[in-house]
Amino acid sequence: MSENRFSTTSDQASLPDFGAKILALAHDLARRTELPEGLMCTYFSPAHKAAAAQLRDWMADAGMNAAIDPVGNVIGHYRSDAPDAKTLIVGSHYDTVANAGHFDGRLGILTAVVVVGHLHRMRRKLPFHVDVIAFSEEEGVRFSAPYLGSGAIAGRFDESALARRDLNDISLATVLRKEGVDLETIQKLARRPETLRGYLEVHIEQGPVLLQKNLPVGIVTSITGSARYRISVQGAAGHAGTVPMPLRRDAAAAAAEIVLAVERRCRASTNLVGTVGQLTVPHGLINVIPGSCELSLDVRSVDDGTRSAATHDIMAAIEEITGRRRVTASIKELARHHATPCAAAMQSAFAQAVAKAGIEPFYLPSGAGHDAEQFAGVTDIGMLFVRCGNGGISHSPLETVTAEDADVGARVLLDVLLNLD
Ligand code: HGY
Ligand code: MN
Ligand code: MN
Repeated sequence: MSENRFSTTSDQASLPDFGAKILALAHDLARRTELPEGLMCTYFSPAHKAAAAQLRDWMADAGMNAAIDPVGNVIGHYRSDAPDAKTLIVGSHYDTVANAGHFDGRLGILTAVVVVGHLHRMRRKLPFHVDVIAFSEEEGVRFSAPYLGSGAIAGRFDESALARRDLNDISLATVLRKEGVDLETIQKLARRPETLRGYLEVHIEQGPVLLQKNLPVGIVTSITGSARYRISVQGAAGHAGTVPMPLRRDAAAAAAEIVLAVERRCRASTNLVGTVGQLTVPHGLINVIPGSCELSLDVRSVDDGTRSAATHDIMAAIEEITGRRRVTASIKELARHHATPCAAAMQSAFAQAVAKAGIEPFYLPSGAGHDAEQFAGVTDIGMLFVRCGNGGISHSPLETVTAEDADVGARVLLDVLLNLD
């Protein structure tokens, strides 16, 4: 058990410096990584399990009844004394991308842990239980199964994800079976909506807007909708020296045109982004014309109509490019998430707390996806963004948050918890 980071201190009368504690915990947690340099913590790796165990210990130190569930979510329960109390979930994710920053997902978890630790030290109970949940798989790096952890708790687990395979060709079902977990176990994790008071998530903005507005926090209005695809282009391999250019069916050249078609189409509309984040020539060699090329596609918009019109046009462009180049493309949709509004009641709860902190309540949409979207329609969701430094960069070791801004985020969350009925 780690030393108790939440032991009673002489400063218990005044609010402790939440921000410094949150940053210290985030840097400590980042030591559990799959990389010799930098942070990578993907589903059920040894680093991922070590991070879960550490989060469970910190939740216990903060006065919660803490446990790790069958799919790797770490759940800290802070009991209410109120009869028939509902549960407010305050969560985010602890899995990361490769070469990640220390705060994506983790800032929200550690903010909740530090704030509940303060309530515990103050022996302050709330009219609702609080479940701080560190979700195990939001990014979908290992199995292309984003929101696996939060989907299970929200009762929206995508069964098709069980067949998804990692780079070692191991399926998610196999990994879970080794942990003694089957579909029925997962489905039993779902919370009944009537038992929930709501869902709140504090998250770094992962963009430059709060920096430009010179604000430490912002209230999220809606979470972008997104669609993710895997595209496999098949042409004809050949000798790089002997096949004349007009006779080639070069899969990589076709893929390159597709990348530019995505960029062109997504530049044509506001509130729309499209990204080809993965582009590989399997077993490619310097002197062989690429016979196949694999690429990913991620299209997002806060407006579902804008996103579906763009994906429709991109699919038509792929058809035109591959036809003209006499190659073929198979396209597999991996995930699709509607744009998700945050509940007005939760937006105003955050806005009141932000104003009380003497800060202008500023509203902004989220271009990133979050676990919160899994709970929309199940219960009221609310999100608070905390300013990122370094131009707002994220999904990068350059991701930064100041202790002052993290402290504001924690105090706002504390105020919401103390004033939510
Ligand atoms: O991709 C996203 O928007 C998030 O980081 N999972
Ligand atoms: Mn992320
Ligand atoms: Mn995130």
